[in-house]
Amino acid sequence: MPNVTFSSPLLHKNVTVYAVAGDTSTVLSVAEANKIKIPHDCKDGECGSCLIEVVTLSGKTMGSLLTEKEKTLLKSLGKITADEIAKAEVEDLAPKYRLACQYVVRDQDILVKFSGEPGGA
Ligand code: FES
Repeated sequence: MPNVTFSSPLLHKNVTVYAVAGDTSTVLSVAEANKIKIPHDCKDGECGSCLIEVVTLSGKTMGSLLTEKEKTLLKSLGKITADEIAKAEVEDLAPKYRLACQYVVRDQDILVKFSGEPGGA
């Protein structure tokens, strides 16, 4: 089972939760299920308020499929380059910034950082 560790100034300490392997939960839904408040609004990859930074802790560094909305918004925010998109799609390498409402948890342990400010990662 993948571990998802959340780190934020909003939390007293890092919180690690277990996501169900093979589930299609997003990081945002895993956070909500565990009462961790990542800022969000649209839940549809359009507002950018759920911006997070992701670090792979163990297992293969996997990109997790970037949705078209996520690519477009992250590019407009200056949080992903064309090179990073290509590496995510061709080599399955994870970009640094993601949208919590679009990132589906995969079978890897990750650290999710967020500032608590909408879009602040
Ligand atoms: Fe709007 Fe994720 S909640 S982009």
